[in-house]
Amino acid sequence: MGDSKRLRIAVQKSGRLSDDSIALLKAIGIKLYIRDRLLIAHSTNEPIDLLRVRDDDIPGLVMDGIVDLGFIGENELEEKMLERQSANKAADFEVLRRLDYGGCRLSIAVPQEMKYDGIQSLEGKKVATTYPYLLERYFKENNINARAVMLTGSVEVAPRAGVADAICDLVSTGATLEANGLVEEDVIFRSKAVLIQRADGALSDEKQALVNRLVPRIDGVIQAKE
Ligand code: PRP
Ligand code: ZN
Ligand code: MG
Repeated sequence: MGDSKRLRIAVQKSGRLSDDSIALLKAIGIKLYIRDRLLIAHSTNEPIDLLRVRDDDIPGLVMDGIVDLGFIGENELEEKMLERQSANKAADFEVLRRLDYGGCRLSIAVPQEMKYDGIQSLEGKKVATTYPYLLERYFKENNINARAVMLTGSVEVAPRAGVADAICDLVSTGATLEANGLVEEDVIFRSKAVLIQRADGALSDEKQALVNRLVPRIDGVIQAKE
């Protein structure tokens, strides 16, 4: 998979983080020529390769050392950490920077017609989500016996389809919930994009020197926006 001396960075192929992450890399002076169908892009001015993958895969790629850096939402990162811990898999990484984009919240939402008086209203119910570990942790913290039903997409149709009583999904504008007759009730996790790196000391000296050169430029871009 290319020259191992080149720094490998994983970004979401398409979705809420991809454009902003690529814009940030360009803003710090990394020249990239991205063709839509190509899942790997080589920088023409730095020893950097960009891997364009599903966001769900990014935490594991970093934790397994397949890539050196990754742009990921904190929600996905936390979910994968919990998943790996429960499977006794290593979950080492470093957060280099918290970024100023990709903001969203993971919320519990219920059908308009359902009476909701707090999380205890979900006792004994089924809740559809793509984030079962975060949701189950929340149930546990609140002493609720409810079941997380894992769906990888179209979570918002689950109540109407009779698959679950409520949902727990990402919300940013709220338009998706509204379009599906759902009301946001409890926010269980607030998320932004972060730049993560493989475990401390896992990079070669050359790669670490390059990362150390890039991170202050990211700070510069963020400050210039403030
Ligand atoms: C999330 C979530 C909703 C949508 C909410 O999906 O699953 O579908 O965003 O955003 P809104 O509040 O602005 O309407 P995402 O874009 O992450 O894609 P995915 O569901 O395909 O993973
Ligand atoms: Zn995803
Ligand atoms: Mg969605």
